[in-house]
Amino acid sequence: MWPENVGIRAIEVLFPSQYVDQTELEQFDGASAGKYTIGLGQTKMGFCSDREDVNSLCLTVVTRLLERHQIKPQEIGRLEVGTETIVDKSKSVKSVLMQLFADSGNTDIEGIDTTNACYGGTAALFNSINWIESSSWDGRYALAVCADIAVYAKGAARPTGGAGAIAMLVGTNAPLVFERGLRATHMEHAYDFYKPDLSSEYPVVDGKLSIQCYLSALDTCYQLYRKKFAKKYPNATEVGLDNFDALLFHTPFCKLVQKSVARAVFNDFLLCSAEKRALKYPGLERFNDATLASTYFDRDVEKTFMTQFAHVFEAKTRKSLLLATEVGNMYTPSVYSGLVSLLVNNAPEQLVGKRIGVFSYGSGLAASMYSILVTKDDKVFQQFVAKLDYVLPLLNAREKVAPEVFSQLMEVREKNNHAAPYTPSGSVSALFPGTYYLKEVDDKHRRTYERTLTITNGVH
Ligand code: ACO
Repeated sequence: MWPENVGIRAIEVLFPSQYVDQTELEQFDGASAGKYTIGLGQTKMGFCSDREDVNSLCLTVVTRLLERHQIKPQEIGRLEVGTETIVDKSKSVKSVLMQLFADSGNTDIEGIDTTNACYGGTAALFNSINWIESSSWDGRYALAVCADIAVYAKGAARPTGGAGAIAMLVGTNAPLVFERGLRATHMEHAYDFYKPDLSSEYPVVDGKLSIQCYLSALDTCYQLYRKKFAKKYPNATEVGLDNFDALLFHTPFCKLVQKSVARAVFNDFLLCSAEKRALKYPGLERFNDATLASTYFDRDVEKTFMTQFAHVFEAKTRKSLLLATEVGNMYTPSVYSGLVSLLVNNAPEQLVGKRIGVFSYGSGLAASMYSILVTKDDKVFQQFVAKLDYVLPLLNAREKVAPEVFSQLMEVREKNNHAAPYTPSGSVSALFPGTYYLKEVDDKHRRTYERTLTITNGVH
C-alpha cells in the first residue's frame, strides 16, 4: 500500500532584495522601447550581488521554511537540491545545507544535488516523492530545494535573467497532491543552452533553438499526458486543456508562456476529431492540415491561436506569472514560483479541489508535464496558503537599482567568479532580514556564510 496523498505540505519562496526595471534596462541597453516589457513580457529583474551565491540562497530558503512552519531538523529524512548554478564540481550544495542540521545531530538525511538546466528542481521534487512512496521511506518529511542565479553576458539574453530559490516540504496528507500515473516526460540531446565554460557563470545560448526545443518538448509531454489521462480516466468526456483549472509553465520570459498556452490549444485542435473540430474551433479550417514540426515559428498559427484563445491564457495561466514578470527567470525554481504566484494571486476558495497542470523544462534537454490536485478541505488549504502572506509585501519592499549599478555589479561577479581568496564587496545592508550571505572565500576556496539580523520571530 502506498502512503496517501503525497505532495507539497509547505512551500517557501525567496527572491533577491534588489531589482532593475526592464523599461530602464531597455534604454540603458539601447534596445527599442517595449522590447523587454512588451516583446518579452518582463517588468522587473531580480539580481544578486557577489554577496549571494547558490549556497547562501539555499541556506536562507531552507532556514525560513523550517522556522515559518516550525519543523524540527530531526523531522527531515531526505533533502534534495536541484540547481544549475555550480560553485563546486564535487561538493554538493546539499552538503553545505547540512550545517543547518548539525546542532540537532540529524545526519541521517538522504539525497544530494541534481543538475540539468532548469529541470533540476523537478528532478529533486520527483526524487522526494518517490522516496516517500518507496520501501526506503522512514516516515519523515522530504525537502526539495531549488535555487539559481540566472545571469547572461551582455546582449539579447541579458534581460531574461533573474534569481531565486524555492523549498518544498514533501509529505503525506498534503494540501497539494501529486496525481499518480500522470507524469509525462520527454528527454533528448540538444545544444540549445549549456554551460561548457566552467570558469564563467554565463551560458552559451542558441536563443531560437532553445525556444523550438521548449515548444517541441511541450508538444511531446502534453500529448503523452493526454494519453495517460485518457487511460487513467477512461470515462472522461473530454481529454484536453479543459481538464486543467490552472496551467503552470517553466518561464524563461512571460511571452513564451503566452505562446505555450496557444501551442497547447493548437495540440488539442490537431488531436480533435473532424466533427468536433468544426464545432469547437470554427473559422480555423485553414490549419486542418498543419503539423507540429512545421509550425514552431509560423506567425499565422501563433498569432491566431494566441488571439482566439487569449481567454484560456487569462483563465488558467496569467495569475501564475506574477513572480516571473517581477523577478525574471529563476531557472530551477521558475515553474514553482509560478505555483506560489497562483496561490497568492487567487482567493483560496477559487482553487480548492482544482487540478493544476505543470510543465517543467530544462535545456539540454529534460522536460515533464504532470498534475497536482488541490485538497478539497478548504480549512486545510486556507491555512496552507496563509503561510504565504509575506510574499506580496516582500516583493513590494525590494529596492530598485539603476541599470548602470546593476551592470557594474554584474562585472564584479564576472571578474571574481571562482576567485580565492576573496572578500565580497556587495552591500550586506541591502539584503532582507534573515538572509544568509557570503562572508568570504579563503585561499583554499572554502566559503563561509553569515546571516543578517532577523526581525522579531525570525520569520519574514
Ligand atoms: N516593442 C514590442 N515588442 C518588440 C519590440 C518593441 N520595441 N522589439 C522587439 N519586440 C518583440 C519581438 O517581435 C519578439 O516577439 P515575438 O517573438 O513574439 O515576435 C520579442 O520582442 C523578442 O524579440 P527578438 O528580436 O526575437 O529578441 P532576441 O532574439 O533579441 O532575444 C531571446 C530573445 C532569444 C529569447 C533571448 O532573450 C535569449 O536568448 N534568451 C535566453 C534563452 C531563453 O530564455 N530560452 C528559452 C528556453 S530555455 C531557458 O529556459 C533558458
